Amino acid sequence: MTVTSATNNSLKDVKEIKDPGEFRENINFLASNKPVDRASSDCVWVGLFSTSKGVELTQPARILDKASNGVITKIIKSGDFDARAGSSFLVRDLAGIPSLRALLVGCGKKDAFDAKVFNDVVKKATMAMITLKGVKKVASFLTEINVRDKTGVWRLQTHLLAVRETLYRFDRFKSPKELNSEDKLSKGSSKPPKTLKPENYCAIKSVEMLLPADMRPTDAASSIAEANALADGVELSRDLGNLPANVCTPSYLVNVAKSISKELRLKCEILDKNGIEKLGMGSFLAVAQGSAQPPYMITLQHNGGKSKEPPIVIVGKGITFDSGGISIKPSAAMDEMKYDMCGAATVLGLIKAVASAGLKKNIIGVVATCENMPSSTATRPGDIVKSMSGKTIEILNTDAEGRLILCDALTYVEKFKPEFVIDVATLTGACVVALGNVNTGLYSSDDDLAERLIKSGTDSLDPAWRLPLQDDYQDLLKSPFADMANIGGRTAGSITAACFLWRFAKSYKWAHLDIAGTAWESGGAKSSTGRPVPLLFNFLSNIS
Ligand code: BES
Ligand code: MN
Ligand code: ZN
Repeated sequence: MTVTSATNNSLKDVKEIKDPGEFRENINFLASNKPVDRASSDCVWVGLFSTSKGVELTQPARILDKASNGVITKIIKSGDFDARAGSSFLVRDLAGIPSLRALLVGCGKKDAFDAKVFNDVVKKATMAMITLKGVKKVASFLTEINVRDKTGVWRLQTHLLAVRETLYRFDRFKSPKELNSEDKLSKGSSKPPKTLKPENYCAIKSVEMLLPADMRPTDAASSIAEANALADGVELSRDLGNLPANVCTPSYLVNVAKSISKELRLKCEILDKNGIEKLGMGSFLAVAQGSAQPPYMITLQHNGGKSKEPPIVIVGKGITFDSGGISIKPSAAMDEMKYDMCGAATVLGLIKAVASAGLKKNIIGVVATCENMPSSTATRPGDIVKSMSGKTIEILNTDAEGRLILCDALTYVEKFKPEFVIDVATLTGACVVALGNVNTGLYSSDDDLAERLIKSGTDSLDPAWRLPLQDDYQDLLKSPFADMANIGGRTAGSITAACFLWRFAKSYKWAHLDIAGTAWESGGAKSSTGRPVPLLFNFLSNIS
C-alpha cells in the first residue's frame, strides 16, 4: 500500500480559498457639449417618448433623423420600435453621423418620465451594449432629457451610477473556462478569452454624456468624480457582501479597513478580543464565543470637518456568517447569511466614498464584526450577559445576535460625543416581511433626522420607510431574570429589535436602518446591492 501526499499544494492552500480579487477596468466618464451629429463614438444613445399618436423624438433623435434623411422616422413607421420605457432598437451605419451605431432608447410616456424611469432607461441602454463587443466608446444623450424635480447634476451622476451598477460582476471565483462557456456570445468565437477580463462580458471603456443645459462645463469634472467615488464605495460594499464567509471573515474586514485607511490616510483603530473584553462588552463577546474566528471592533475616521465639530457616526453589523448559533437556522437559503455583514460592508464602502469625495464633515465608521456559530463554547439560550452599558440581557434566542453586538457598539460610540449615530444592520426577517425588498426599514428617535434620511433615500433612489419607535413596545422585551430579554414575542419583530437598540442609544440623536430586505437580492441573480450606501452618501453630502 502506498500513501500519497500532496506535492504542490500546502494544506493551508487546500483549506483556505484565497480571494483572487476582481479584475475591473475603469470606465472613463466624461461630459461633453458635442451634438449628436458631431460626437464620434461606437454607439450613441438617444431617447424617444411614446405618445398616444406614436413616437415623439427628443432633440438628439431629431438631429439623427435629419442627418440620416429620415431613417428614424422610417423605423417608427415600420412599427419595429414604439419607444415603450425599457425598449431599445439598434441602428447601424446611419448616414450623416460619425458614430457607427445608434441606440434608440424607449423612454415611455413623457409625463411619466421621472427619476426612477430615467434610472431604469439608462440601465436598459447599458444592458443593450453587453452583447456588443465592438462598442468601446458610448456617447449618451439621455442626460439631455429633463427629469421632474431633478437637476442636471443629478442626471449626470445618476447616469454614471446606473451604468456602473449594471456592469457590476462578481466573477472572481469562476475559472476562465467556466466563465467562457456561460458567455453565449463567445461560443462561436475561435479565440476563447484566456483571462477574466471584462472583455468577456462588456467592452465599454468610455461613456461620454451630454452636458445638461443647466450645468457649466467646469462643474462636470467634480460631479463625475463625486459620482465615481460613490460608485467605488457601492462596489466595495457589494464585493464584501458577495464574498463567501470562508473568505470574508472578521479579520478580512479588518484588513479591508486597514487598506482603506492606508489608501485615503484615515485614522483606523482596531479593537481585538482583549480590548473588547477590557471595555466590558459581554454582549458582543457572547455572540463571538462560539466561533473559532476572533471578533473585532473597527473604527475608521474621516476628519473632513472642523476639529471641534461633533462627528456623525455610522455603525455597521458585521456578522460574517449567521448560522443562528445554538438556536440554529433552517438549512434553506442559509448560504444567504454570508450577507449578514452587509451593515459593515455599508460602513466600509461609505467611508471609502466620503473620504475619496472629500466631504467636509467629520464622519466615523464603526464596525462590530464576528461570526455567529454553534459549538461547545457557544452561548446557550437562557444565558445572561452584561453589556458594556452595565445592563444585563437574557439571551433567549442566540439567533437574535445582531442587536447583541450592536448594543455594545452603540455604547462604545458615546465617547465620540456624536451629532448623530446611525446604525445599519441586516437585523430582522420581520423587516423583510413588512417592507419586502423595496424599502429599508428606518427607525429614529429624532424626527428631523428621520425626515432627512427619507429624503436622501428618495433622491438617491435608495428608499427607506419609517416604522414606529415607541415605548409601548418595550414591554415585549421583559425578562424575569435580567434587565431585558433579547427577543420580543411573535409580533412586531422588526420594531422590538429597534426598541432593544434604542435602550442603548439614549445619549445622542439616533437612527437605525434595518437593511435585511434591501442589502441583497436572492434568486438566480443573487447579489448584494450596495444599499444603503447611496442613501447615506447623499445624506452626508447634503449636510456638508
Ligand atoms: N440576520 C438575521 C436577520 C435576517 C433574516 C436577515 C433573514 C435577512 C433575512 C438576524 O440575525 C436574525 O436571525 N433575526 C431573527 C430574530 C428573531 C430570532 C427574533 C429573525 O429575524 O428571525
Ligand atoms: Mn440571527
Ligand atoms: Zn443576523
